[in-house]
Amino acid sequence: MTQKIIRQQTVDAALLRVKSIVARGPLDRQALADILQELKALAAQPELWLEADFPPPEEGVRHARYLIREEADKTFALYLNVMKPDNRILPHNHTTWATIAAVEGVEFNHLYTRTDDGSKPGYATLVHERTLEVGPGSGVALLPDDIHAVEIRGDAPIRHLHLYGRALETLTERLSFNLEDKSCSIMSIGVTTRREAAAT
Ligand SMILES: [Fe+2]
Repeated sequence: MTQKIIRQQTVDAALLRVKSIVARGPLDRQALADILQELKALAAQPELWLEADFPPPEEGVRHARYLIREEADKTFALYLNVMKPDNRILPHNHTTWATIAAVEGVEFNHLYTRTDDGSKPGYATLVHERTLEVGPGSGVALLPDDIHAVEIRGDAPIRHLHLYGRALETLTERLSFNLEDKSCSIMSIGVTTRREAAAT
């Protein structure tokens, strides 16, 4: 059996369990924690996420995002992100649930709370709550309105799994926040997603 088939079967089994968690009822923090456990178990199998299958971004590019799996209706979307040091993603929400687990390296996750009432278009104020070092064995789970920023430090690329309730490509209303000028705007998806089918 090829590594790709093993990966697909392992991911399919994990996603079946994730779907049963979601089917239990309203997605609260406990349900999210249970989903994160499934994602962490996938991330704890680094042989499924090798550089040979998912190479780091090319020279001059800091981020490669690989789609591993999604449903036909674009729900339950799993990605592998390979990011180089100095890559930063501004504070943003997701408008769907999101979980992140580390395969290799540390993704610094800065968590924020929005403090304005959202009534003034394009304006937002955030307070930094805490920073999590998401390395192997750890992860982070976010509800649709939770806000985080991502930062890669160190000197080697990181590899992290990100699992979302809906595919990033469908999230046209999520917001990106600028702390310096207290503005917010619709977030772009950033780099183009690479399809897992392109990998061996
Ligand atoms: Fe995010």
